Amino acid sequence: MHVIKKPSWGIKENYVTDESLATNRRKFLNSLATITVGSAINGSLLGNAVWANQNLQNFNSAFKNNKLSIDAKITPEKLSSKYNNFFEFGSTKNIWKEAQNLSTEEWAVNISGLVEKPFKIDTDSLISKFSLEERIYRHRCVEAWSMVVPWTGFELSKLVAYAQPLSSAKYLEFKTFFSPKEATEQRARWYPWPYTEGLTIEEATNELAFLVVGAYGKTLHKQFGAPIRLHLPWKYGFKSIKSIVEINFTSVRPVSFWETLADNEYGFWANVNPEVPHPRWSQKIERVLGGNSRNTEIYNGYGPQVAGLYNKFQNLGNSLFR
Ligand code: MTE
Repeated sequence: MHVIKKPSWGIKENYVTDESLATNRRKFLNSLATITVGSAINGSLLGNAVWANQNLQNFNSAFKNNKLSIDAKITPEKLSSKYNNFFEFGSTKNIWKEAQNLSTEEWAVNISGLVEKPFKIDTDSLISKFSLEERIYRHRCVEAWSMVVPWTGFELSKLVAYAQPLSSAKYLEFKTFFSPKEATEQRARWYPWPYTEGLTIEEATNELAFLVVGAYGKTLHKQFGAPIRLHLPWKYGFKSIKSIVEINFTSVRPVSFWETLADNEYGFWANVNPEVPHPRWSQKIERVLGGNSRNTEIYNGYGPQVAGLYNKFQNLGNSLFR
């Protein structure tokens, strides 16, 4: 992600699509491959190794939702789990080590605002309430790269129904944790922490909006946004907020983290559209992680499911797509 007026802390313009960076990362990955596989099976093999994610839970029995999955080559986990945006832990793609500092035990999500009765629920209870399914989604970052991931989770619409929103609730506002002790970048006061995102209630109840608790058949790695994140496959990736601690039902349109930083670049809607360039680069083509380039599709290929959500907003023009 980039902001237009780049202060000294800004990310370099060419960072995201720089293939040599990816190549160097791959070499690094190869040297770590054995460790990674080993740790997934048994964290104790590694002693204090940073990768260790001791609570990997097997989600392989989750229902495979083929109807809502795409038929595309899945991005190898060793690539997707080492190329992440999680600005709480740094502004490079290589934050997976730092992300291990996040303590995800006793995690709970606050359901607040315009609902019958606000409540707090821990992730285990959430997982046990809604049956889990696996969906293979394409994830398209605004930075023009993409990957394909088998996520495990449940439809956000189920949680919305469970929360019993009042009729005055028009939007959902999501918030990530704020823990500067664990997430060093949260000590940077120029960012509007905590990371915040928002959706209309119609978007939140679309069948594609997915609350994710696992990937590749097991509990989410911390760098993926453990223990619970959102995935909205028709929108640019920054809408898919990680490590959620609060979902607030509100009548006021939320202003997101990136919108606060650069609203002309990262808007509220952020629907994928190859015809609407980012102010500083084209969105026509994306680099597929571990593969070649492909032509970007409107709504990231999910038009049949979501285009109808925007019929009444056609007057918004390009702002629906940034
Ligand atoms: N959520 C939080 N809390 N912090 C972040 O920095 N980055 C966003 C999104 N969710 C981000 C976040 C962006 S820009 C993208 S592209 C995706 O997470 C990246 O998800 P991935 O690392 O699983 O690919």
